[in-house]
Amino acid sequence: MRRGLPLLLALLLTGLLWVPGCRRQDPPTEDEDLIVVGVSQVGAESDWRVACSESMKAAFSEENGYRLLFEDAQQKQENQILAIRKFIQLGVDYIVLLPIVEEGWESVLLEAEEAGIPVIVADRAVDASPELYETRVGSDFLAEGEMATAWLEEKFAGRSQVSVIHIQGTPGSTAQVGRTAALEAALDRNWNWTLLAQMDGDFTQAKSYEVMTNFLAENHSPPIDLVYCENDNEAFGTIQALEEYGYVCGAGGVTVVCFDATRNGLRWCMDGRISLVVECDPLLGPLTAQVIEKLEAGEALKTEYSTAQRCFTPQDLSEDFIAQRPY
Ligand code: AHR
Repeated sequence: MRRGLPLLLALLLTGLLWVPGCRRQDPPTEDEDLIVVGVSQVGAESDWRVACSESMKAAFSEENGYRLLFEDAQQKQENQILAIRKFIQLGVDYIVLLPIVEEGWESVLLEAEEAGIPVIVADRAVDASPELYETRVGSDFLAEGEMATAWLEEKFAGRSQVSVIHIQGTPGSTAQVGRTAALEAALDRNWNWTLLAQMDGDFTQAKSYEVMTNFLAENHSPPIDLVYCENDNEAFGTIQALEEYGYVCGAGGVTVVCFDATRNGLRWCMDGRISLVVECDPLLGPLTAQVIEKLEAGEALKTEYSTAQRCFTPQDLSEDFIAQRPY
């Protein structure tokens, strides 16, 4: 059942209600029979995020039977909450929430439930009652972290001392929580690993470059064996800072590991400056659309739909392989 009329009426009112910083989209016509989906995206902080947004836009196209209302929250949870409230006022058929952090969603999800609008959580998880959303579509971030630490434990086996720098993602996001938990467990298990610094890179190249540069400016050429970056873009910024201070990244130098495996990340890995990249699939649009199709068909859902992941080292990569990657 489509919500054409209430949606149209609401759209007539939304000149006042539009979320600041978000692009206006054409109102649907009253008689169209498209499924209206409101997507609240975190922002555009990384190559991964851009690929994820493109995947959502392609999956929820008019050719596929959807009218998409897409809101970029510019990395602010309050913008995401405003976007969800707008979707509720518009009477969309479904809301897809890609939450910036896990906490703080309960009341707005309750508002969606009271309005009878199903919410699908995609990418990171929410810390809210499971009755308030249909399912989650996304990666197992702890498993990704554990793939990285298993590889590192093998690589550094027998080393008397391993000095570690940890560049974290956005604090409180599931991607940060899971990947950090895996590294912290490895630090606990390996008495010879020493954490030199744990810094917030916010999943961006610029912030990671800044925090790493500040660290290197305040410390005089400390020996660094491993930098654990929580996404590709953090690795780019960190490596840039390390190289400016004379460090060599890769074989015989600093081991840099990261997550995502976007084309750029894989290129840096093929060149040897990144030693290991763990894949995190950003193409969540088709899987999210399948969930909506199941809901339309009245089918039961699993509590979670996980994407697969694998690891890449320089030896695994070629230009041909990278060129045919979809992101
Ligand atoms: O939540 C997924 C993470 O968020 C990706 O690893 C990162 O690149 C993005 O910003």
